[in-house]
Amino acid sequence: MASKISVLAFLPLALATLNKPVIQPNFPGGGLASLGQGLLDNLKPTQSTSDVWGAGWIPADCKSLVQGAGFSPSDVIPFNIHYTDCSQTWTFCRHKDSPLSQTDIIDLFGRVPVRMRDFIRHYVFVPGNKSAGSSGDNTLMVGDVDITVFIHEIGHSLDSHAFDASYGVPFSNSNVWISNYNQDSAVTDSYAQSSQQENFAQETVVSVYDKNVPGGIGNIQPNWQAIFHQYATLEGYIGDTIIPGGTCVNRLTDSQPVTMSNSAKLRRALGPKPTVSLSPDVKEIKPIPMADSIKMTSFDEHGNPNGTYVIQL
Ligand SMILES: *[C@@H]1O[C@H](CO)[C@@H](O)[C@H](O)[C@H]1NC(C)=O
Ligand SMILES: *[C@@H]1O[C@H](CO)[C@@H](O)[C@H](O)[C@H]1NC(C)=O
Repeated sequence: MASKISVLAFLPLALATLNKPVIQPNFPGGGLASLGQGLLDNLKPTQSTSDVWGAGWIPADCKSLVQGAGFSPSDVIPFNIHYTDCSQTWTFCRHKDSPLSQTDIIDLFGRVPVRMRDFIRHYVFVPGNKSAGSSGDNTLMVGDVDITVFIHEIGHSLDSHAFDASYGVPFSNSNVWISNYNQDSAVTDSYAQSSQQENFAQETVVSVYDKNVPGGIGNIQPNWQAIFHQYATLEGYIGDTIIPGGTCVNRLTDSQPVTMSNSAKLRRALGPKPTVSLSPDVKEIKPIPMADSIKMTSFDEHGNPNGTYVIQL
């Protein structure tokens, strides 16, 4: 199948729509990738087992993301992860040439607190220059993205689902968020300036670090007061969601299995159709539909955002 990439305009970071300056001093390297090591040192992996899907089948959302990124679904291996802290599996999709191995993916995602993992449907991993984007609670990960990118992208789903809806959805547009943002003098980095949604996702990385690394964000940001109301509001309103422990309570139903190939010849090699259903132990989260395009953020050699591009789905 021909590549569906139609718009691949690489743009520098969008004009700032938020008017607060970037925190001084900047985070080391200019952004939040510097939080990665502390997170890896303090968030422990979760035990798990995994298995692969029946031959020839792929979750529908994986298929559209993979094709949108210009790859063949037949080169993708969907796999289930059964973490010991959740009765419900996660199904992720990995292109055979992704620099992140299946073991890397299971390890990194398993370090994320389970009550945050709850809000992710499918992750899709493909090779390419480091970038990531999120749509419909699915995330497309390109290249060897690090743990701060996993947390940033989950931050977008938390913004839509993890707060009492009476504040407004997304939380990053709520009066609570905006009034606290207004009390601060800065944002984390130039990427946070692009919108309140990106700002919130960046503050999610700060909050997870602050709550889980001894010493908190003051370890690496002496001027933490300049962003305090933002990350403290996130921490206060989201509660134990960003703390490890417990079990999964809410989950999104996986997208339906579809065939990787539309060719009748290949279909004859199909394995048994995987069943997709939610464990009775978890409460279903109402999913957000996938949009018809996905805005991707690209990262520089330090792992900090340096541009955006759009993939049509
Ligand atoms: C990665 O980026 C380099 C330089 O920016 C570019 O030449 C190359 O085509 C990109 N590769 C892919 C797979 O997009
Ligand atoms: C971002 O950084 C990467 C890695 O250094 C580079 O390949 C890419 O061209 C940069 N993108 C932009 C939009 O500057």
